[in-house]
Amino acid sequence: MRVLVTGGAGFIGANFVHQTVRERPDVHVTVLDALTYAGDEASLADVADAITFVRGDVADAEVVDRLVADADLVVHFAAESHNDNSLSDPWPFVQTNVIGTFTLLEAVRRHGVRYHHISTDEVYGDLELDDPAKFTDQTPYNPSSPYSSTKASSDLLVRAWVRSFGVQATISNCSNNYGPYQHVEKFIPRQITNLVDGVRPKLYGTGQNVRDWIHVEDHNTAVWAIVERGEIGQTYLIGADGEVDNKTVVETLLELMGQDRDAYDLVSDRPGHDLRYAIDATRLRTELGWRPQYGSFRDGLAATVEWYRANEAWWRPRKDATEAKYATLGR
Ligand SMILES: NC(=O)c1ccc[n+]([C@@H]2O[C@H](COP(=O)([O-])OP(=O)(O)OC[C@H]3O[C@@H](n4cnc5c(N)ncnc54)[C@H](O)[C@@H]3O)[C@@H](O)[C@H]2O)c1
Repeated sequence: MRVLVTGGAGFIGANFVHQTVRERPDVHVTVLDALTYAGDEASLADVADAITFVRGDVADAEVVDRLVADADLVVHFAAESHNDNSLSDPWPFVQTNVIGTFTLLEAVRRHGVRYHHISTDEVYGDLELDDPAKFTDQTPYNPSSPYSSTKASSDLLVRAWVRSFGVQATISNCSNNYGPYQHVEKFIPRQITNLVDGVRPKLYGTGQNVRDWIHVEDHNTAVWAIVERGEIGQTYLIGADGEVDNKTVVETLLELMGQDRDAYDLVSDRPGHDLRYAIDATRLRTELGWRPQYGSFRDGLAATVEWYRANEAWWRPRKDATEAKYATLGR
């Protein structure tokens, strides 16, 4: 099987490529990645000999057509993915997330290639902190930020291409991922690398916001389960019952890294910061038989701390520029 992985030099895509090379010797992976600030070929160094890497843009119809024509399956991870950036400059989000997805859909339509679309639970907006409800595939779309609205737009394009043109596609909306190769701009790697540098963690607002954490390896086994056993045209929510508030994440990290649980600072909140996300992944478990491998968030977090400690050469080149950017925002 020949798989085209877009965004394979980013966080989740790189982990997907590693997992696929490791566990599926019958699959040949081609990565298409523009290597924006978020992509890093070093994230694929260990598997470079086993894959084909193409530097290119998912909105470039010519390169996309050529690569899709050669594939049996497309798994589309490439995106602009950082909420903070979408508030300061939304255009790249529209270009990559909407036009890029359109470009891929047209190519899979022309060539009759199976397509899996990676999306986020942020398309559903947020839940109240005291609301027992979780997101399901029936929850109405209600995105808050330019990031989540462009992801919602791309999901709707996929649904329409299935209905109107019979494209063989599935969609997954996943909760917050953590694990190796995540950019230091994101919450958990930023806190870990700050602690390595002796800098106190910074928490937006009061830290009450709840995220439903899943280890990236578990996300990617779910993606394979959907590709292999999912029903065409369906949307699957991916989550591992990992609801934790941001304050607890920081306190757990401090403890895992040998410091006092209260050694952090509060900073001003991000505008429109969603309160709570929570995923009901019942369909994935009952219909496709998927189970997460990481037993607890704490275990997954401890493994992630160890990974960042052991791979400073990977994250160090990006750290200063990331912190300089946050400093201009006062965060
Ligand atoms: N990180 C999460 O917690 C999370 C949760 C749910 C869903 N998702 C979704 O998963 C996908 C991957 O997220 P991530 O966290 O790995 O993102 P990331 O920002 O780490 O990686 C994105 C990758 O896409 C590449 N890219 C960006 N624009 C491109 C373009 N125009 N053409 C080709 N490549 C381009 C970048 O170079 C980078 O390698 C995204 O679609 C995101 O919406 C992420």
